[in-house]
Amino acid sequence: MDKTAHQNELKRQVAQAALAYVEPGSVLGVGTGSTVDLFIAALAASGIPLAGAVSSSERSTQALRAAGITVLEAAAVERLSTYIDGADEIDPKGHMIKGGGAALTREKIVADLADRFVCIADASKCVEVLGRFPLPVEVIPMAAPKLIRRFAELGGQASLRAGCVTDNGQHILDVRGLAITDPLAFEAEISQWPGVVTVGIFARHRARVALIGAAEGVRTLN
Ligand code: 5RP
Repeated sequence: MDKTAHQNELKRQVAQAALAYVEPGSVLGVGTGSTVDLFIAALAASGIPLAGAVSSSERSTQALRAAGITVLEAAAVERLSTYIDGADEIDPKGHMIKGGGAALTREKIVADLADRFVCIADASKCVEVLGRFPLPVEVIPMAAPKLIRRFAELGGQASLRAGCVTDNGQHILDVRGLAITDPLAFEAEISQWPGVVTVGIFARHRARVALIGAAEGVRTLN
């Protein structure tokens, strides 16, 4: 099996394992990405009844509807018990970098509705310190040049993601070269910069449960 096929198999295993965290009859928060696509397929095949799902992207909404799952507006839901989503990086405390698929703003909004974030990821996403993966930041376009200069002051090289317009009509900066040793403080600081819509650090909304797919099986971190 080549590397990509192996990684896909680990994603499939964590997607399957996540079914144990789906409460029958509930409204479920559903994230975005290739791991979540596999989770939606597993959910559809499982026959677990749901009252509906709240989706974090147009991509997942389409996949959920195609699977026959009712999609509810986030604005119509007061709380979710569980939100299931992938990550680009996750540290031992469950802090994550997200936004590789440009869905970070809606992901944070849906995660904020949920009591519990269940992260599904293959072991290649595990790091000791966040920052190896370029940090996605959704920005208002007119602020981008100033924000690029501000990240440079922190030692980060930010670049505009070419051709990317988010579901919210905004742009994404990808910031390389950061070592984010205090994710909570970093998230709070960057979130205040004018023109930042959402920073792709999920520290306040960290994973309460992480299902990590590795060669030896699915590891559960609480
Ligand atoms: C999308 C995300 C995804 O969760 C993240 O990019 C992981 O994706 P994948 O499951 O395809 O590896 O944050 O904005």
